[in-house]
Amino acid sequence: MDKIDLDDYIEQQIKTIQQTVGDKRVLLALSGGVDSSVCAALISKAIGDQLTCIFVDHGCMRLNEGDQIAHLFSKMKLQFIRVQAAARFLKKLKGVTSPEQKRKIIGEEFIRVFEEESRKLGTIAYLAQGTIYPDIIESGGKSGPTIKSHHNVGGLPKNLDFKGIIEPLSGLYKEDVRIVGRKLGLPADLVNRQPFPGPGLAVRVMGSVTHKKLELLRRADHIVRQEIGKLKKKPQQYFAILTNTRSVGVKENHRTYDHVVAVRAVVTDDFMSCGCSPLPHSLLSQISSRIVGEIPAISRVVYDITAKPPATVEWE
Ligand code: XMP
Repeated sequence: MDKIDLDDYIEQQIKTIQQTVGDKRVLLALSGGVDSSVCAALISKAIGDQLTCIFVDHGCMRLNEGDQIAHLFSKMKLQFIRVQAAARFLKKLKGVTSPEQKRKIIGEEFIRVFEEESRKLGTIAYLAQGTIYPDIIESGGKSGPTIKSHHNVGGLPKNLDFKGIIEPLSGLYKEDVRIVGRKLGLPADLVNRQPFPGPGLAVRVMGSVTHKKLELLRRADHIVRQEIGKLKKKPQQYFAILTNTRSVGVKENHRTYDHVVAVRAVVTDDFMSCGCSPLPHSLLSQISSRIVGEIPAISRVVYDITAKPPATVEWE
């Protein structure tokens, strides 16, 4: 894709949104991540209070993340609604182990919740999403093979109640989306956030997803982000994965058989290809001893040293 002028891109998108939407209303799927937040800022610039943002809390967010998102957006000039839907998502995910299945289920449930919420709000013609260019490519949207279905592309059911879908960022790579966010005046800590998959920790819990496993992962992930976050020069993305493996260990002279957590930290320009971050050994040791020391149900920590390709960033 050729380099594009982002000021032109913003102007063009604003015009297109205004022409498409007219005097109708738009409902935005706000996850609190970079993409949907920038999407919210762009659309609200185009159509103001015709935009309503709904944050579906699917219960697969990181530690305290739901509350932080609610706090941040309720201060902004847009209509913000938080839907607490964790129980509903977990019920649908019960016993599901296939990553593609998880993505499809979460994608469909997302849309169902939006349909229900939009009905409560009266007539809303358009659904907006923060889909970016790599989402489309990796979901086989152009000519390539399907690597995986991103929740905001592959999971869409056919019988949507909305008149149309608006995806103003679908021509942009991640770094351009951040620049657009800055140009639109979003706060730095929001614009510089690490990417986070739409299906959230559901794709970082290997195998079936339960509330208990999510809680374990949230705590381990918090430690990983706290420790790596202290680095001056941080990798572009870093997080924990709850593997579907248990391993023998020994704690206080007792044999244990507990969870194995993996740490992923990648360096990249565009997330299409990535290298493993050469984290200092002392940092990895600190992460490991904190995780096994603070979370009794985890007994082993491994570091993922694989590049993308052939591995993806997310384990799934
Ligand atoms: P992969 O795992 O494909 O991830 O190497 C590339 C980047 O995309 C993020 N990612 C997602 N972002 N919706 C998103 O908005 C998704 O469903 C999704 N899945 C992966 C991933 O975290 C990485 O930064």
